[in-house]
Amino acid sequence: MQYPERHLLAIEGLHPPAIAQLLDLAESYVLLNRSGKTQRDLLRGKTLINLFFEDSTRTRTSFELAGKRLGADVINMSVSTSSVNKGETLLDTAATLNAMQCDLLVVRHDQSGAPNLLAQKVDAAVINAGDGTHEHPTQALLDALTIRRRKGRLEGLTVAICGDIGHSRVARSNIHLLTTMGSRVRVIGPPTLIPAEADRLGVDIFHDMRAGLAGADIVMMLRLQRERMTRSLVPSAREFFRFWGLDAEKLAFAKPDALVMHPGPMNRGVEIDSAVADDPARSVIKEQVEMGVAVRMAVLDVLSRTPSRGRNER
Ligand code: NCD
Repeated sequence: MQYPERHLLAIEGLHPPAIAQLLDLAESYVLLNRSGKTQRDLLRGKTLINLFFEDSTRTRTSFELAGKRLGADVINMSVSTSSVNKGETLLDTAATLNAMQCDLLVVRHDQSGAPNLLAQKVDAAVINAGDGTHEHPTQALLDALTIRRRKGRLEGLTVAICGDIGHSRVARSNIHLLTTMGSRVRVIGPPTLIPAEADRLGVDIFHDMRAGLAGADIVMMLRLQRERMTRSLVPSAREFFRFWGLDAEKLAFAKPDALVMHPGPMNRGVEIDSAVADDPARSVIKEQVEMGVAVRMAVLDVLSRTPSRGRNER
């Protein structure tokens, strides 16, 4: 067993064998899912709680399906963060979850670090389903699985991540995973949307789409996350699309067999043109969703096997 942790809070810090183990296991769940079978005895009697402090459709549904296909009792809790002191609420929530004897806790929160804090306080194994602008580890794993299945490898590929890098936990997790696994990563976007620390992350920075896409194997588009912008960082949506939106003309600069990816939800006509997003010869966006369920099954599987902290140890 390579995966060394009790939780999955981030990709940063994971070593190649741990990532490869999760991807290999997920690969077997792709086959199981395609065969229409389930494996309901694996998590039978275990409780998985989806604790979402931020909206989500595909990630929450995906964890719910993954848990159910492995036989867990799955509870969805949506919580609004708009009220009261957040630190206190989170600790109160942890106490409640411990009392409910939750085994696996999937957390999404608008503040970076919230899942780490919860992980220190709950007995359950915690999975980060996206925290602020920090990380979204299962998204990076499902993206890697999609790429690996299509291209046969991660090592040596050139992956261009485009658009709103600064607000994107998806970009951050992908950068850590892909650079760890030997891909070359480029980030492309307007200077206002490229974080200052980007040059420490081992990526090449481009502000021009055509230059950045030249020779890329993978073109990963990101949503413009206006809800996280505290001031105006981009021109109008039309202008943004003209310079940084992906259409067939810009995609032509990438390799002829380059794949187009997007974590969803997409803003069509802002960061991506429908003709590209819906082109079955180039776009693997639907496949990413399928891989998401398999990856989450693999993560739940691995974490349910790591020894749990005794319920009264703290
Ligand atoms: C992403 C997220 O929430 O971080 N969505 C997702 O999980 N598929 C990206 C986004 O919201 O744009």
